[in-house]
Amino acid sequence: MTLKRITVDKNYATTLLNPSPITLVTSEFEEKKNIVTISWVSPVSFSPTCVAIMLSKGTYTQSLIENSRQFAINIPGIELMKEIILCGSVSGNERDKFLETGLTMMPAIVIETPLINECFAHIECRLNQSIAVGDHTIYCGNVVSVFVREGLFDKEGKWMLEVGRPVIHLGQDQYVTLDEIAKNR
Ligand SMILES: Cc1cc2nc3c(=O)[nH]c(=O)nc-3n(C[C@H](O)[C@H](O)[C@H](O)COP(=O)(O)O)c2cc1C
Repeated sequence: MTLKRITVDKNYATTLLNPSPITLVTSEFEEKKNIVTISWVSPVSFSPTCVAIMLSKGTYTQSLIENSRQFAINIPGIELMKEIILCGSVSGNERDKFLETGLTMMPAIVIETPLINECFAHIECRLNQSIAVGDHTIYCGNVVSVFVREGLFDKEGKWMLEVGRPVIHLGQDQYVTLDEIAKNR
């Protein structure tokens, strides 16, 4: 039986591709530090290891990253849902999101941008290039360090969900997390 298909608005393309972990991206320039919620994030190259974040034009984060040419991607667990929403709904231009969320800073290993202690994984990036596309800019970063909460990956490199359970944004106000690892053999 063929199931019926219907055409929907083309904006649904972004909703359908949304499911990747929500991240809290940190940036800093001249002592000004910020946190922003970003769900449009993607790996782009194995060698060199490169990842991209898609940032709306005019965000405070954009000016900090363009000046410092570095940023960090922190991955929060489901327990940080309130902080995820706050960092995604107010601008660091007017509000201090570290102060308001109570999230604590942790020094990075390579770059000079603070990381978020309460997150379970951290990817430090130096800006490689930026590409303006429509109302967003793609910031590609060379990954210079990755570190995670102990036990997140087991001896075989398998992800242990009990140690870090990422949040996925389905669009609008729908969020889910991963429940179990699918059996594949
Ligand atoms: C769940 C969620 C996901 C978001 N994803 C993105 C994103 O991928 N790119 C983006 O530019 N803004 C995204 N936003 C909106 C920004 O987080 C928001 O505009 C923020 O206030 C900008 O902060 P800033 O001015 O301090 O940089 C998202 C917000 C939420 C709540």
